[in-house]
Amino acid sequence: MNHHPVILAIETSCDETAVAISEGTRKILISEVASQIDIHSPYGGVVPEVASRNHNITLPPLISKSLEKAGLEISDIDAVAATSGPGLASSLLIGDTTAKAISVATGKPFYSINHMEGHLLSPFIGSDRGVIPNISLVVSGGHTMIVQVKSPGQYEILGSTKDDAAGEAFDKAGKMLGLPYPGGPEIDRRAAQGNPEAIDFPRAMLRSGDYDFSFSGMKTAMSHRLASLGPETPSPETVDDLCASFQAAIVDVLVGKTMAAASACNAGVVTVSGGVSCNRGLRAAFTQSALDHGVELILAAPSFSTDNAAMIAFAAGCHLENGLPSSPLNADIDPNLPLATVISGSS
Ligand code: KG4
Ligand code: ZN
Repeated sequence: MNHHPVILAIETSCDETAVAISEGTRKILISEVASQIDIHSPYGGVVPEVASRNHNITLPPLISKSLEKAGLEISDIDAVAATSGPGLASSLLIGDTTAKAISVATGKPFYSINHMEGHLLSPFIGSDRGVIPNISLVVSGGHTMIVQVKSPGQYEILGSTKDDAAGEAFDKAGKMLGLPYPGGPEIDRRAAQGNPEAIDFPRAMLRSGDYDFSFSGMKTAMSHRLASLGPETPSPETVDDLCASFQAAIVDVLVGKTMAAASACNAGVVTVSGGVSCNRGLRAAFTQSALDHGVELILAAPSFSTDNAAMIAFAAGCHLENGLPSSPLNADIDPNLPLATVISGSS
């Protein structure tokens, strides 16, 4: 293959139906995301069967639209990729099965991709330096982990959350505050107008000496705080302060632990990805801390932070360019797929 392989990638691990087309790792040609937020919002969370049925309806036309936008035919595709986990089983199956069907119909290889690898490589989308060694914080609605990226494909998990993910904590707090679903972006917005020092939320495990997290205490702290305010609905100013203080506590822990890992590993580069990396407070705090520590910070672009298929196309591009084998068509999906080293070699 002397041109960059054209990759069609599908991501349906949770509630976003996403399709991307890339030229290997060189260029994302198309990145389409059909969000189901409005569909799940009345339930206050993702309903798995509703999600999978909507993927089934939305995915085929989204693939056609993506090809059309790129000016390509299905026969122009060199490889097809899909997320095989972690995620909701019934949602993963739609993207996985569709990608395999395209692989069978076109005779082109199929690559099953780990969603977390997609997230952690996403800060390098569009970079002309390739994937460089870094300490990576992946922070989303389902995951919070610090990973040492030794090379593209060589990963070591240094720590992760013992209970709730950071995004989950944001979403649960948002629900308690009566904010629209999902709570994360809404708390970000309200926090901008509030005082981060108004309320002292716990910084769980900040000084635990490891790289693990615990965020489940945050929802207890929020519910105690709300109860202490009495039965009336808190004023908008109080909600702003609660949001700013809650966000500041989560940001302190995420930044503190990631920078501690970077120092311990002597890493010159820190990357941040996943839905919560859109948070403006988190981006600002990381930017400042990277300056203080003299390390380079690479934040995923917001459009590649929340779930998308561009990151899956990019990860598949890394596999192709590193000569990794394609996946068998009877490869299973795995809702709990662990992040493992996919490219071995000397470390
Ligand atoms: O990566 P993602 O789309 O899905 C998972 O793989 O989980 O992340 C979604 C999570 C949600 O919890 C959402 O509230 C959070 O990312 N999120 C934010 C912001 N934007 C999205 N959290 C805080 N501030 C934001 N601006
Ligand atoms: Zn995700």
